[in-house]
Amino acid sequence: MTQLGVNIDHIATLRQQRKIEYPSVIEAAKILKSVGIKQVTVHLREDRRHIQDKDVLDLKKINGLKLNLEMSISEEIVRFALKTKPDEVCLVPEKRQELTTEGGLDLKKNYSRIKDVVLRLKKKGICVSLFIEPNFESIKLAKELGADAVELHTGKYSLCKFGSKQYNEELKRIVDVSKFTVYQGLILNAGHGLDYKNVKPIAKIDGMGTLNIGFSIISRAVFVGFKQAVIEMKKLVTTYSRK
Ligand code: PXP
Repeated sequence: MTQLGVNIDHIATLRQQRKIEYPSVIEAAKILKSVGIKQVTVHLREDRRHIQDKDVLDLKKINGLKLNLEMSISEEIVRFALKTKPDEVCLVPEKRQELTTEGGLDLKKNYSRIKDVVLRLKKKGICVSLFIEPNFESIKLAKELGADAVELHTGKYSLCKFGSKQYNEELKRIVDVSKFTVYQGLILNAGHGLDYKNVKPIAKIDGMGTLNIGFSIISRAVFVGFKQAVIEMKKLVTTYSRK
């Protein structure tokens, strides 16, 4: 069944505006647990614009909530992950000036570096996922690189107008690549730009594992509260999931 993983980076974005104690990512994680969410996701960016090292260390201490750490392949961050040992790491490309992760990893260009990082993380017992564009070549490379999982970048899909030619093409691409991912024996996850309107067709995909969703949930939380926003998204994901 498709599961919801909640990305809480933007709770930290708000907190960092004042650099004080609240809103607390730990309080958020406890709410996630209380409504049956199994995974919390955070991105420790090199510029520490939202999540801080201490947040990751504190989240790691919460029992019963899987910690998925999104991170770049920079040596400083890799060493932090090796020491902290989150349950899962999702390697992502990172640019200083971007507002959010703009594309998938270029597995060809960074082949040997990624191979080395995957190997070191796996040696510590960490499940390794690669954030990639939904295309067949990236799946083949992810398999070759020894990844356990991939997270398909749904950013392009999420920006398409519902029902447009481009929307249908993007969705078909994700569905076809998903099938191939499962066939290759890789864990299939997806995320980026998913919201209360566009999540359904992605949740429905056969073999879909976890959908990592952040911005839309935190935005809705402003009006209905965090717990309610999470419950609503969880309901959509599980209702439309292939059982
Ligand atoms: N997955 C990855 C790899 C990401 O980098 C992000 C953004 O931090 C997300 C999922 C969540 O995207 P959004 O905040 O648009 O839901």
